[in-house]
Amino acid sequence: MTPTRDVQSIRDAFSAAGQDHLFTFWDDLNSDQRDQLLADLAAIRLDALPDLLKIVADTASHATGGSIEPADVITRDDVTAEHRELGESLIRRGKVAPFTVAGGQGTRLGYDGPKGAFRMSPVRNKPLFQLFAESIRATESRYDCELTWYIMTSPINNAATASYFEDLGYFGLNPERVVFFQQGVMPSFANDGKILLAEKHRVALSPDGHGGSLLALAETGMLEDMADRGIDHISYFQVDNPLVYCIDPAFVGLHAASKSEMSSKCVSKADDFERVGNFAVVDGKLGVIEYSDLPEKLAKAKNADGSRKFDAGSIAIHVISRSFVERLTADRSKFGLPWHRANKKVGHVDTASGEVVDPSEPNAVKLEAFIFDALPLSKNPIVLEVDRSEEFSPVKNATGVDSVETSRRDMSRRAARWLKAAGAKIPCNSDGEPTPTCEVSPLAALEADDLKNRAPINIAADKDGCIYLDK
Ligand code: UTP
Repeated sequence: MTPTRDVQSIRDAFSAAGQDHLFTFWDDLNSDQRDQLLADLAAIRLDALPDLLKIVADTASHATGGSIEPADVITRDDVTAEHRELGESLIRRGKVAPFTVAGGQGTRLGYDGPKGAFRMSPVRNKPLFQLFAESIRATESRYDCELTWYIMTSPINNAATASYFEDLGYFGLNPERVVFFQQGVMPSFANDGKILLAEKHRVALSPDGHGGSLLALAETGMLEDMADRGIDHISYFQVDNPLVYCIDPAFVGLHAASKSEMSSKCVSKADDFERVGNFAVVDGKLGVIEYSDLPEKLAKAKNADGSRKFDAGSIAIHVISRSFVERLTADRSKFGLPWHRANKKVGHVDTASGEVVDPSEPNAVKLEAFIFDALPLSKNPIVLEVDRSEEFSPVKNATGVDSVETSRRDMSRRAARWLKAAGAKIPCNSDGEPTPTCEVSPLAALEADDLKNRAPINIAADKDGCIYLDK
């Protein structure tokens, strides 16, 4: 229990910052609840609050100013056998680690549990985490190496994620080489800048964005852990993209050969206004401009040959050098990525009435940091264009665009393509769409060529019209 004198000084500090309402229910709380409230308050950096409140109050749109030029993009054709060999040798020597950011709330999907536990694969219904785990196991056996998988969670899902892995035997991975760590949190603000209470003894805190991963890697000792294990390169991906190559040897090799501190993959945008970030050179530095911040004129701009000028869409796949994160976070008090504000619905307790409020419209502001904002801080960043149908189909929504349905469809299409390329007969309808639902286990192939190497493949649909290729 915190001594009364200390509680008073904490309360005074929050009062001075205009946040005394957080103690409205203090007298009604029992001692555990008081401890909980104080623990939540400890996550709030009061010295940073004045700057955060300016962002909360800033509702203007932020079309990017300054000079904006398209980013130079490397294509798969520019990637050489030497790049791949270099990447393979780094993987073999244990220099590369897969890193999944899985701390998000997944509100749009609306699944009750960690998003990685969502069963995604089209035939076997494998959860996302299992797909990644199998891909990591396949990489280990191909390169005869041991990989350590770093998974960033957040206070909202850390315990559930860890026990999920435990219950499912870590999907066959060595538990010592599956490392969870938690990202930081940010309070939610009412529009008048008051921090919201989720309950009488709980501050409304939510994860501080995937950009929070860089500081979290430093603050939780993960950078030292990586250094101890000899890991130099971090293969960063998000939990919601089942098509991702968890570790892409050619991309890793390209990153290392380019002496890049942070490398990115992009895809050609589906249309001028696709809701993905745009790689661009802003005032001479590579970065990502959010779709909402790219001026319309630039979004529509075309090259002489009619192609889209700002065509490189961000898909949140990166290789990041450990030394870059170390450099950025060497003085943690000075490091911070910009905060992005979003209007969200946040349930809370009204401190005036004590009533629980369950809003039907956005009523609050959340602040998040984005990983791509580290790009302008990096040396020699590169962008590699990849084929969307091979590597990117995120599951963000329950239905519609980027949904369970579209992502499963794209997994099945890719599997059918790989199987066909290896000689399997896959019946297709008049639109060229495979009629059986197809799935290839990551243990059978990490990329199309793996199947070509084991051709010919004779496989037929089962009675449910599904094809599943196991190892
Ligand atoms: P999204 O931006 O899609 O957010 O995250 P989300 O929280 O998963 O889903 P919504 O917006 O509530 O529907 C993209 C990736 O970044 C991770 C997510 O887990 C996902 O892998 N992420 C996001 C974090 O790890 N931490 C965060 O604070 C936010």
